[in-house]
Amino acid sequence: KTIVKKVDPDNIDMDIIRQASDIIKNGGLVVFPTETVYGLGGDGMLPSASKKIYEAKGRPSDNPLIIHISSISELENYVKDIPCNAKILMDNFWPGPMTLIFNKKEEVPYETTGGLETVAIRMPSHPIANALIKESKTGIAAPSANLSGRPSPTKASHCIEDLSGRVDMIIDGDKGHIIGLESTIIDVTGDVPMILRPGYITKAMINEAIGEVLIDKVVLTKEKSQLLKGDYKPKAPGMKYRHYAPKAEFVMFEGEEKRVIEVINQRAKEAKFQGKKVGIIATKESFSQYENANVISIGSRKNDESIAASLFDVLRKFDELEVDIIFGETFFDEGLGMAIMNRLIKAAGYNIEKVD
Ligand code: TXA
Ligand code: MG
Repeated sequence: KTIVKKVDPDNIDMDIIRQASDIIKNGGLVVFPTETVYGLGGDGMLPSASKKIYEAKGRPSDNPLIIHISSISELENYVKDIPCNAKILMDNFWPGPMTLIFNKKEEVPYETTGGLETVAIRMPSHPIANALIKESKTGIAAPSANLSGRPSPTKASHCIEDLSGRVDMIIDGDKGHIIGLESTIIDVTGDVPMILRPGYITKAMINEAIGEVLIDKVVLTKEKSQLLKGDYKPKAPGMKYRHYAPKAEFVMFEGEEKRVIEVINQRAKEAKFQGKKVGIIATKESFSQYENANVISIGSRKNDESIAASLFDVLRKFDELEVDIIFGETFFDEGLGMAIMNRLIKAAGYNIEKVD
């Protein structure tokens, strides 16, 4: 039922793009690659298409979708006004891995915005995404193309695994490097813009462009108890769900690197003795120091981008290995590290132990 087509991003087959855009125009669903993660797309102006997206993902319908556009001129179809800070951010980071929250125009259906008066807009830089949006002649509403709760998809195989039989078409655009973490979300409706979800566009990059920017408290929260308090309610509804989660229990350890490795080895040994299958998320630097477990490197501590690119794939690999418990190291949470830690903390369900 689901058509899978391979498209080379450097040499796009427009026949396939037209086939995909026909599906979108007819209210169907197409999975497509973006520079961040794969998206599950439908016509953002068509309530029935948005409903289908929620169904295919198994996602609660109060969790709003991002509308993807292919040029700045399309923005006025969806938003009431474009604040000055938004213009500067768009100039600096569009097309690219940044989503902005605007006040929505009446025409944008509540089915797409999860009932909100605001709308999330992003202009991706990926050539396949761009071609598909242009050809579809509408804003494409697209959440990440994973089943709700599972790690976001960074490869076509992840999308096929989760959504085969649930969508009309999957465009496999696997080639070279993708960022691997979802876009930075910035709410520009207030006096001072606020980061609702950290991503590749870092706080420092935003500071440099517009000066002051706030960060939604939940982004940095490491404790679930704080989240449950009213004042920690996330401004991006999606940030409240357990997310990116591997099937196994996942515990992270925070502290001095050498000690963390010792403690993880100790815990792995104990778990193995109890008959558990153990997974360890290591780095290129620590990989050879672990034993008694299925050890996978998430990338190099010297290269945050390598960690971002493989994070979700590593979580899915532990699902395939059917481990019972995963132990992992924590990372410095500044720059891109903030986005990395935000995803890992949520994947671990706030399960972090301090090591001293
Ligand atoms: O990189 C990305 O952003 C990917 C690719 C496919 O573009 N998309 C993505 O979509 O991550 P999704 O649906 O998985 O995450 C969208 C997030 C959710 O946390 C949602 O709550 C938030 O954006 N969001 C959407 N509209 C919003 C709004 N009007 N106000 C606040 N948050 C909003
Ligand atoms: Mg998602």
